[in-house]
Amino acid sequence: MSTKAPIILAVDTSDLELAKAWIAHTSEFVQVFKLGLEFFLNFGPQGIRAITENTDAKIFLDLKLHDIPNTVAHAAASAALLKPFFLTVHASGGGEMIKAAVKAAPAVKITAVTILTSLSEDDVRNVGFTKDALNSATNLAQLATSAGAAAIVCSPLETASIRNAVGSETLIITPGVRPLSMVGKDDQTRTMTPAQAITAGANFVVIGRPITSAWEPSGVEIGKRAREISAEILNS
Ligand code: C5P
Repeated sequence: MSTKAPIILAVDTSDLELAKAWIAHTSEFVQVFKLGLEFFLNFGPQGIRAITENTDAKIFLDLKLHDIPNTVAHAAASAALLKPFFLTVHASGGGEMIKAAVKAAPAVKITAVTILTSLSEDDVRNVGFTKDALNSATNLAQLATSAGAAAIVCSPLETASIRNAVGSETLIITPGVRPLSMVGKDDQTRTMTPAQAITAGANFVVIGRPITSAWEPSGVEIGKRAREISAEILNS
């Protein structure tokens, strides 16, 4: 049986060698690696190639594109040259923007971010949404899938509602989860465990610091942590 759980490891570091080491020591247990703005603005396309050339790691390129359709189409086409598995755009960029990204990068799973999980209900209203986070995120997910997005990023608390709205084909990816060993140990009250998020309808969970904080130079501890969290998901 595979030891790789549907985990997307958030490789949030501006140290290229550290990124490579995290990936090398966790790839037995993790299916996808997320390289975001912190990584990309330090190392650019060459940095992504440096990660992918020596591994068959799938990449979640988290650039959260948000611009006019023509600009996003060109950006998505450029990003596609790096062969990421997922590429993120903001769903609030609108249906035409999402369609443009899908058309420009047909081999990449265009992944629409609904509402950042860091926003409170007050923040959601203050930026102009007229409904609460749950309903606004669900509407955005429907808009994005109608425009051709293959995947949606949302809070674990919105997963069940969004799964119900978009059907079974669309991939749902959720950050903001905390493994069993950490629940109650920090200030995250509105959270779920990775296994709960998957039961609620998510296909992948994004996990960063719960795994990467175990890093020490031998790599043994980060591998152990990834294995434990992978087992927690696969055995649930
Ligand atoms: O908190 P953690 O280190 O597990 O975060 C992993 C990734 O998930 C980060 O790269 C961040 O972009 C994203 N995240 C999020 N919403 C949260 C917490 C984290 O989108 N509430």
